[in-house]
Amino acid sequence: MQPWEILLLSDLMVKSCVDTKESIDLCRKAIEALAKKEVIEDKFYLSIEKRHGFLKPMGAYISYPSEVLLLKTFSLFKDNPQKYKLPSITTLIVLYSPETGLPVAVMDGDHITGLKTSGTTAVAAELLARKDSRVLGIIGAGFQGRYHLKALNSIFKFDEVRVFDISKEAMKKFAEEMGKLEDLTIKTTNSYEEVCKGADIIVTVTVGDEPMVDAKWLSDGVFVAKVGSYQELNPNVITSADKVVVDSWKYTVEYGRVKELVGLVKSGKFSKKDLYAELPDLVAGKKKGRSNEKEKTLYISIGYGADNAAIAGYVYQKAIEKGIGQKFKLK
Ligand SMILES: NC(=O)c1ccc[n+]([C@@H]2O[C@H](COP(=O)([O-])OP(=O)(O)OC[C@H]3O[C@@H](n4cnc5c(N)ncnc54)[C@H](O)[C@@H]3O)[C@@H](O)[C@H]2O)c1
Repeated sequence: MQPWEILLLSDLMVKSCVDTKESIDLCRKAIEALAKKEVIEDKFYLSIEKRHGFLKPMGAYISYPSEVLLLKTFSLFKDNPQKYKLPSITTLIVLYSPETGLPVAVMDGDHITGLKTSGTTAVAAELLARKDSRVLGIIGAGFQGRYHLKALNSIFKFDEVRVFDISKEAMKKFAEEMGKLEDLTIKTTNSYEEVCKGADIIVTVTVGDEPMVDAKWLSDGVFVAKVGSYQELNPNVITSADKVVVDSWKYTVEYGRVKELVGLVKSGKFSKKDLYAELPDLVAGKKKGRSNEKEKTLYISIGYGADNAAIAGYVYQKAIEKGIGQKFKLK
């Protein structure tokens, strides 16, 4: 690419450059990079309360597995589906040359957002869930629900997959579509309790804001992954877990983003010393993951920049190799 020339990549083009397996591997490498302190990243939130939305710009520089400099915007406008029949979440990625800081690519960010979020959850699940986990419960039959099913189904052998969503229509569509795609029978359920009871792995990936998972429904040996941006857990899930792991204490607590956790910290019922680990500590082997079949483990994520950068950098290289994308001269 010439200076001032950027490569424009659509959603379909991005999809042709990376798949689930590759993305899980790239997420693991990005988390290793975080452990090795080969990442500089940060983000902030612009709350647009009048529109029930927020815009989150996030910058990340990684020097492993390759050097990538990224800016991503993530916007969540809750009223979009009902008001405009548009998705609530949209993302855009800009890549810069890590050498000169000049922009080199602009790409749709949705596929990468799905892959990096589910890929990082899958890396956590490999370390914190029982290897013989057979029953998966998904709360939230949307975009991330689909990516999470695909990622987790590439690692575990599920006998039963269940889903719950406040929208019966979304749940039905999810079960039909994803059942066919993943060659699974997906059971729709009628309540949070029904989706949780007896599940080995529970993932919450909703735009809802209420307690959906309660400690009293959780079996021994369960792994819960809380991924949605608002409240999804009864705080008793956190206080009763044997191991609580977060992607980042800074992002989840200090930036005040995970309501359940922040509430417990403010009331003195949880503190950093009660945290078992941050995910990079587990991936780097500084801390052990699950240590027995009975432990209840919990992973709470709000999202890194590094995993986005690892996948977006890979997509850019693949696009150049394949000769895809539209070149655009800025100057
Ligand atoms: N942790 C991370 O790294 C990360 C990254 C990206 C997205 N997210 C978050 O993941 C969540 C899901 O994103 P998405 O793209 O799948 O959104 P989506 O709009 O495609 O799907 C969300 C689903 O949640 C359902 N829902 C809403 N309220 C509910 C409730 N009370 N109970 C059950 N279901 C409910 C909706 O009906 C919808 O089907 C969002 O909160 C998003 O911000 C987190």
